[in-house]
Amino acid sequence: MIKGKAIVMSGIRPTGFLHLGNYFGAIQNYVKLQESYTCYFMVADLHALTTHPDTKTLNDNVHRVLAENIACGIDPEKAALYCQSHVRETAELYLYLNMLAYLGELEKTTTFKEKARLQPDNINAGLLTYPVLQAADIILHRATWVPVGKDQEQHLEMARNYVKRFNHRYGEIFPEPMAYNFGEDLVKVPSLDGEGKMSKSENQLATLYLADTDELITKKVMKAKTDGGPTSPGMPKPDYIENIFQLMKLVCDQNAIDHFEEAYQNCNIRYGDLKKQLADDMVKFISPIREKAESIQNDKKYLSQVMEMGAIKANASAAETMSLVRAAMGLNY
Ligand code: TRP
Repeated sequence: MIKGKAIVMSGIRPTGFLHLGNYFGAIQNYVKLQESYTCYFMVADLHALTTHPDTKTLNDNVHRVLAENIACGIDPEKAALYCQSHVRETAELYLYLNMLAYLGELEKTTTFKEKARLQPDNINAGLLTYPVLQAADIILHRATWVPVGKDQEQHLEMARNYVKRFNHRYGEIFPEPMAYNFGEDLVKVPSLDGEGKMSKSENQLATLYLADTDELITKKVMKAKTDGGPTSPGMPKPDYIENIFQLMKLVCDQNAIDHFEEAYQNCNIRYGDLKKQLADDMVKFISPIREKAESIQNDKKYLSQVMEMGAIKANASAAETMSLVRAAMGLNY
């Protein structure tokens, strides 16, 4: 642990392909955080087992997620980029925290209820105690800041409860972890069908993935919903058109945006041209990331080195915390 710098920790589930929403909503901010904080970025392979028990696909997914994160700018020299299962003390802390977690609260967790509904034949105890494992990930490094999306806030609140209970019963070891809020930097990435945000699993044709080929990107963008265009000047944009302009702001230069904005106001906008511009700029943005991720992913030796380097940093911090924990609990006979 580098003294003096606040500690940031976050986890990435290796269960799907990263998309533009992950990039602008999370990874881009991690890349900034690694400059000024001590960062632990973890691939949550153990969490993945609660929903995806097949370890053959898991192995590929772990490599891909690591490669994609590095291609997006996470620097394994600056941040600790590691794999959850390489830090064995996570399991030990998870066990202790389980004694401080109550069945009633776990059953009420939104994500648990949702996953139980989605996989009624596999409502395993790991699924129930998912937030306990997540708390262990975070407090193992005595992290104070956790950059996560809104859907994770309940898990963080649970983590704070376990911290309070632990500190109260055994002594002040852990700071209370807080969601790191990006404020104005938090970018929403709308989906291409005008409904909601880009997402890992829902409507894959309306989501741009960092692994999409140029042809697929173009095809998806050109299929985005439009209409006959505005019929009188100053008409407000329908949601699906507003979304296209939102997406342009992420990747197009201002001149191009101004041009189409003006055309919209003058009621002579050609949506085919608008989408062509967006498609071209999306291709320009995504293709270098995709190519870089592909070459990293094929370099298994480099990826093992990255994981090893990350595990060394994460294990050092975990060992420090766990010796304090065992002493505080009186488990040091
Ligand atoms: N539950 C998180 C998600 O689904 C992933 C995660 C695992 C995590 N451990 C974490 C996030 C620790 C933040 C901190 O996205």
